[in-house]
Amino acid sequence: MSKILLGLDIGSQTIKAVQLSRNKNKVSLLSAGYIPTPKVEANSTGRSDEQVIANAINQLAHDMKLATGDVSISLPSYKVVTQVIEVPIMNDKELESSIQWEAEEYIPLPLNKVKIDYSLISKNETSKKMKLLLVAAPISLIEKYMRIVSLSGLNPVAIETEILASIRSTINSLPTLPNILLVSIGATNTEIAIIRQQLLVFARIFPIGGNTLTRAISEELGFEFQQTEEYKKTYGIEEDKLEGKLGKIMSPFFNNLFSEIDKTMAYFREEYPKEELMTLVISGGAAKMPGLMLSATKNIGINSQISNPFINIEVDQDVLTTLNQDAPIYTTAIGLALKEI
Ligand SMILES: Nc1ncnc2c1ncn2[C@@H]1O[C@H](COP(=O)(O)OP(=O)(O)OP(=O)(O)O)[C@@H](O)[C@H]1O
Ligand SMILES: [Mg+2]
Repeated sequence: MSKILLGLDIGSQTIKAVQLSRNKNKVSLLSAGYIPTPKVEANSTGRSDEQVIANAINQLAHDMKLATGDVSISLPSYKVVTQVIEVPIMNDKELESSIQWEAEEYIPLPLNKVKIDYSLISKNETSKKMKLLLVAAPISLIEKYMRIVSLSGLNPVAIETEILASIRSTINSLPTLPNILLVSIGATNTEIAIIRQQLLVFARIFPIGGNTLTRAISEELGFEFQQTEEYKKTYGIEEDKLEGKLGKIMSPFFNNLFSEIDKTMAYFREEYPKEELMTLVISGGAAKMPGLMLSATKNIGINSQISNPFINIEVDQDVLTTLNQDAPIYTTAIGLALKEI
């Protein structure tokens, strides 16, 4: 029997869905698609807004002719605490009783309002400390996302943070690389993560993304937002296009990003002096920015590539050609659909 799971990534600009079927070790694509996210207040708690998003998901599911309704969904990373913490070495039982206390200083909400998850990263016998990955999500947020999916007529069976899902699909597409720097640039947020030996060991998020860039260009050149989007997607930061104008306007963002990536790499070298970060993988819609890979490789000094989560997944050849162009936007959704439940 094969298992079928839909990964659903509700972004601020687009809702992405990927349905995979898993049979023993073979994973095949059944369907993939995306639609614009309906405009509702970003932090709205209104039930009617939930229904609007649910309707859009329902439409997408209909367009994709989905075979079953089990869904794995993501929570936006910027609303979840994802933090590597260090605690004294202790056994599982001790940890279970003290994790709340250990976690408290990292969580800006009352502990009874969050769901806490943790997993072991590594133990250091010399310092008698261990590193844990702490993930804390507001319960109200989890409930809201579960409600939206249920309202859309699908069946929510799993929920996790975007970045953890993206890491799963990145590892699936690059299984032999020990250490990877993953940068995900969406419409409103950019996230930097280090994957070391297939585990998340560092994560940071910034409230800027592709929309910030479009707004900056549109203000500077006086174009409408939608027209600016088209210019940005066509010419990107390539120096020989439009006299390099767009690249100049966007350069503060990318210089900042590259400097944050540098800092992250410095942190890695300090923590793991004997190891190397082999590759920079860029995911999310803005990964498709023309000229970005070249500029990243030049500025960061390590091999940079656009995320392609369809690698190691069986996809019909004719479908693949179209999907490959959109590959990086599906990184989170594929990771969600790859989740073992
Ligand atoms: N070819 C392209 N060149 C540059 N930017 C692009 C291109 N295609 C899409 N984008 C940008 O990618 C962004 C949308 O990406 P994505 O769908 O990953 O965002 P999202 O998941 O909705 O956002 P978030 O995760 O921040 O909530 C938009 O800002 C869009 O302009
Ligand atoms: Mg996103």
